[in-house]
Amino acid sequence: MAIVLICKLLLLFSQISNAALTITQLHPLSDDGTTLVSEDGTFELGFFSPGSSNNRYVGIWYRNIPVKTVVWVANRDNPITRNNSTTNKMVVTQDGNLVLLTQNDTLVWSANATKKVSNPVVQLLDSGNLVIRDANEDTVFLWQSFDFPCDTLLPGMKLGWDLESGLNRRLTAWKTWDDPSSGDFSWGVELGSNPDIVMWKAQTEYFRTGPYTGNMFSGVYGPRNNPLYDYVFVNKKDEVYYRYTLRNASVITIIVMNQTLYLRHRVTWIPEAKAWTIYQSLPRDSCDVYNTCGPNGYCAIAGSPICQCLDGFVPKSSQQWNAMDWRQGCVRSEEWKCGVKNKDGFRRFAGMKLPNTTHSWVNESMTLEECKAKCLKNCSCTAYSNLDTRGGGSGCSIWVGDLYDLRVIESGQDLYVRIATSDTDGKHRQRKKIIVVASVTTSLVFVMLLTFCIYMTKQKYKGKIKTKMATEDQNEGKQEDLELPSFDLTTVIRATNNFSIENKLGEGGFGPVYKGTLVDGQEIAIKRLSRSSGQGLKEFRNEVILCAKLQHRNLVKVIGYCIEQEEKMLLYEYMPNKSLDLIIFDSYKSKNLEWQIRFNILNAIARGLLYLHQDSRLRIIHRDLKASNILLDNDMNPKISDFGLARICGSDQVEGSTSIIVGTHGYMAPEYAIDGLFSTKSDVFSFGVLLLEILSGKKNRVFTFQDNSHNLIDHAWNLWKEGTSEQLIDACLENSYNVFQVVRCIQIGLLCLQHHPNDRPNMTSVVVMLTSENALPELKEPGFLIRRASKDGENSSNRQTSSSINEVSISLLNAR
Ligand SMILES: *[C@@H]1O[C@H](CO)[C@@H](O)[C@H](O)[C@H]1NC(C)=O
Ligand SMILES: *[C@@H]1O[C@H](CO)[C@@H](O)[C@H](O)[C@H]1NC(C)=O
Ligand SMILES: *[C@@H]1O[C@H](CO)[C@@H](O)[C@H](O)[C@H]1NC(C)=O
Ligand SMILES: *[C@@H]1O[C@H](CO)[C@@H](O)[C@H](O)[C@H]1NC(C)=O
Ligand SMILES: *[C@@H]1O[C@H](CO)[C@@H](O)[C@H](O)[C@H]1NC(C)=O
Ligand SMILES: *[C@@H]1O[C@H](CO)[C@@H](O)[C@H](O)[C@H]1NC(C)=O
Ligand SMILES: *[C@@H]1O[C@H](CO)[C@@H](O)[C@H](O)[C@H]1NC(C)=O
Ligand SMILES: *[C@@H]1O[C@H](CO)[C@@H](O)[C@H](O)[C@H]1NC(C)=O
Ligand SMILES: *[C@@H]1O[C@H](CO)[C@@H](O)[C@H](O)[C@H]1NC(C)=O
Repeated sequence: MAIVLICKLLLLFSQISNAALTITQLHPLSDDGTTLVSEDGTFELGFFSPGSSNNRYVGIWYRNIPVKTVVWVANRDNPITRNNSTTNKMVVTQDGNLVLLTQNDTLVWSANATKKVSNPVVQLLDSGNLVIRDANEDTVFLWQSFDFPCDTLLPGMKLGWDLESGLNRRLTAWKTWDDPSSGDFSWGVELGSNPDIVMWKAQTEYFRTGPYTGNMFSGVYGPRNNPLYDYVFVNKKDEVYYRYTLRNASVITIIVMNQTLYLRHRVTWIPEAKAWTIYQSLPRDSCDVYNTCGPNGYCAIAGSPICQCLDGFVPKSSQQWNAMDWRQGCVRSEEWKCGVKNKDGFRRFAGMKLPNTTHSWVNESMTLEECKAKCLKNCSCTAYSNLDTRGGGSGCSIWVGDLYDLRVIESGQDLYVRIATSDTDGKHRQRKKIIVVASVTTSLVFVMLLTFCIYMTKQKYKGKIKTKMATEDQNEGKQEDLELPSFDLTTVIRATNNFSIENKLGEGGFGPVYKGTLVDGQEIAIKRLSRSSGQGLKEFRNEVILCAKLQHRNLVKVIGYCIEQEEKMLLYEYMPNKSLDLIIFDSYKSKNLEWQIRFNILNAIARGLLYLHQDSRLRIIHRDLKASNILLDNDMNPKISDFGLARICGSDQVEGSTSIIVGTHGYMAPEYAIDGLFSTKSDVFSFGVLLLEILSGKKNRVFTFQDNSHNLIDHAWNLWKEGTSEQLIDACLENSYNVFQVVRCIQIGLLCLQHHPNDRPNMTSVVVMLTSENALPELKEPGFLIRRASKDGENSSNRQTSSSINEVSISLLNAR
C-alpha cells in the first residue's frame, strides 16, 4: 500500500514538475516528457510521435481527454527524423522567435516571428492558442499558432483572411492518421464580392458551403439554435472569417479535416463514452460535391436521377446526360431572347443553394424589385436573388454567365433564373391569365383529337408496325406491345454456344440462366423460361412489360427478349459481381465491403425503390426485395432485379390484396405475410430488413443470437433498446465506419420495420433521411416476426406452385 502511495505521489510530483507554464530563454522545452500546459490545464504542448511513426513532432493536444487528440502541430512538414530525442528542444530566441532545434542545434522549424521584444516568453493559452509575447504584455502577441491552423478548427479560432496582412488561415488535413504532414484536402475562405467557404480536394474545388445569407450558409443546414455552438461569419473590409464558439465550455466540439474519407467532421467529445462522436460531416451527399450536375443543372438528392436541368435549359449532350454523366451540364433552350417581350423573364426556384458567387455582383441596399430590373438591363445577367434572407430578405445578388453548383436544400432560398417566359410583366398578368387559359383549353382539345386520331391509326396497323407478343395465357387474353428489341433464337443459341453447360450460370425458379456473348462482344445474361413451367409465363410476361418501361441506373437493364417456338427468354445486362447476398453473407468477401460502399449501396437501393414506387410512370411494388435480388456491377453499384413478382398498380391504387402470396420469408411485412395485403409500405419493410442485413452481414432468418433474439430484427430492436445498436455492425468493419451514420442508419432501418404500415416512412422520406442529418421520428416496435419451424430461409415461396422449382430460385438471381 505504502509503495503504491509513494509511487502515486512520485508520479503526481513528476507530472507537476514536468509541466511548465511558459517557455523562456532560460527554460526551453526539451524532448524528455516535459510539457507546456495552459493555465487552466485544458491544453498541453509537447513532443510526440503520432501512431506508429518514429518521427518527433511538437504539438498541442487536449490534456484531459484520454484519447490523444492533437489539434495543432508545429513542424508538421518538417519532422525530426532522428530518434535521439535527448537533443530535441523548442527554444525562444533572444529576439522573440520560436524555433525547434535538434542535434548540434540544427534548425528544424521556425515560427518566423519578426517583431522584436526585449523579454519574450511563450505561453499556451486556455483556448489552445500558442503565443509569443512580451513577459510584461499580456494581450499583444508577436505570433500566435491560431494564425497557422493545421487540420483542426478549435473554438474561437478564425478560418479566413486578414486582408491587411494578407494572412489566409486555412485547414489542411493530415496525410494519414500517423503522418501529420499536409495532405491534399483543405478548407478555407474564397474571397469575392460574396465570399464562400470552400473545400478543395487536390487543388480542385470539392465542396462549397454557399454564401452566408445573414443567418446561415446557403448550402449547409446549420441551425443557429443548436445546443453546442454559436457561429459568426464576418465579412468586413479588413477581415473575412468564420468562427464558432462553445455554448457551454464543458461540452467540447471541434472541426477536423479527414483526408482518408475526404470529409470535414464536426466531432463532439462524449465523456461517458470516452470517444469523439461525429456531429456533422460535410459534404453530406453526392449533391454536395461541387458542380455534380454541371453548369445550369441542379441536384435534388431525392430525385432519380439526382440531376435536372433548370427550366428553360436542356442537356448540352443528351447522350451523356442520359448516361448519368452530367458534367457538361445544360444549355439554354432556343427560345430565350434578351429583352424580347415574352421571351425574357424569370422563373423562381425555391429552396436553392445559391450558385458559385465568385463572379457575382452584389449590392446590400437594393430591393428585390430593383435587383430584377438591374438584371433585366444586362443581357449577360442570368439570375438574381436576395443577398440577405433575414427579415423577409434584402440586398441584391446578380449572376452572369453559367450557374454552377446548384442544389435543392432545406437551407436554400429563392433564386430567380432568367428564362424564356411570358411572366415578366406584372401589369398584364390578369389579361394574360385569361389568354393562357383559353389557349391551353384550345390546345388541349387539339391534342386530344390528335391523340385519338393517332391511336385509331395505330390500332389499325398495330399488327404490322410493332412486335406482338402472343400470350398463351388464356385468362389474360390481351396482347401486349413490347417496346424491347426482340432477338431471334439463332442469335441466342450462338451467344450461349447452344446453351452449353459451361455457360450456365444457375438454375432459377422458372428455368436456367445462361451467360452469353453477342456477336459484338457484349456480355449478357439469358433467363430461359422452362417449357414445363406454365405458371412462370405470367410472371415472365409481367417482367417483360415492366422492364421495357423501367429505366433507372439502380434497376437492372433488360436488353431484349426472345419468343420463338416454345422458347421464352429474357436478355439482361451481365453483372460481373453477381448478387449482394454472395458478398455480404460471405465472411471473406464481406471484408472488402467497407462502410462507405455499404452506405452507397443502401442509398442506391433506396433510390431504385423510390423510382419504382413513385417516379416511374407506373407505380410498382416489387414484392420480393431481398439481398439476392440486388445485383452488383463492376463498380459495386447495386441494381434491383427480378420484377417478375412485381405488380403494376394504377397510380391511384397503392394498396392491393392477393390470395397468392409471393415473396420471401424473412423479408415479408406482417400484413402481407398474413393477410396478403401489399403496398409500397411492404416494400419499405423489406428494405428495412435488407438495411439491417447489409449493416450486420447477417441474414434475417436462419440465425440465432446470444441474446436469444429470434432473428435479426429482434436482435436489432433489443440492441436499440439498450442503446448499443452500433454492436449490430459487421465485425469485419472494425472501426472503419462512422458511428453516428451507422446508428442513424439502424434507426432508419427500424423505422422501416415498424409494425403498422402507416408508421413506416415512404421511400422519399427514407432517401432524404439517409442523406441528411435532420432529426428522425420516434420509433415504435418493429413488425412481429414470422417464425417458422421450417428452414426455408431465403427461398422465394409461392403457395400455388410446387416448391421444388422455387427451392433454387436463389441461384437464378445470382446469375444475372
Ligand atoms: C531509432 O530508430 C530505429 C528505426 O526505428 C531503431 O532501429 C533504433 O533502435 C532507434 N534508436 C533509438 C536510440 O531509439
Ligand atoms: C544522443 O545524443 C546525445 C548528445 O548528442 C549523445 O550524448 C548520446 O550518446 C546520443 N544517444 C544515442 C542513443 O545516440
Ligand atoms: C555534430 O557536431 C559534431 C562536432 O562538431 C560533428 O562531428 C557531427 O558530425 C555533427 N553531427 C551532425 C549530425 O551534424
Ligand atoms: C519560415 O521561413 C522559412 C524560410 O522562408 C520557410 O521555409 C518556413 O516554411 C517558414 N516557417 C513557417 C512556419 O512558416
Ligand atoms: C479519418 O476517419 C477515419 C474514421 O474515423 C479514421 O479511421 C482515419 O484514421 C481518419 N483519417 C485521418 C487522416 O485522420
Ligand atoms: C454545461 O454542461 C455540463 C455538462 O453537461 C452541465 O453539467 C452544466 O450544467 C452545463 N452548464 C450550463 C451553463 O448549461
Ligand atoms: C467558382 O468557379 C470558379 C471557376 O469557374 C472557381 O475558380 C471558383 O473557385 C469558384 N468559386 C466558388 C466560391 O466556388
Ligand atoms: C446599391 O444600390 C443603391 C440603391 O439602388 C445605390 O444607391 C448604390 O449606389 C448601390 N451601390 C453600389 C455599390 O452599386
Ligand atoms: C453586365 O454585367 C457584367 C458583370 O457585372 C459587366 O461586366 C458587363 O459590363 C455588364 N454589361 C452591360 C452591358 O452593362
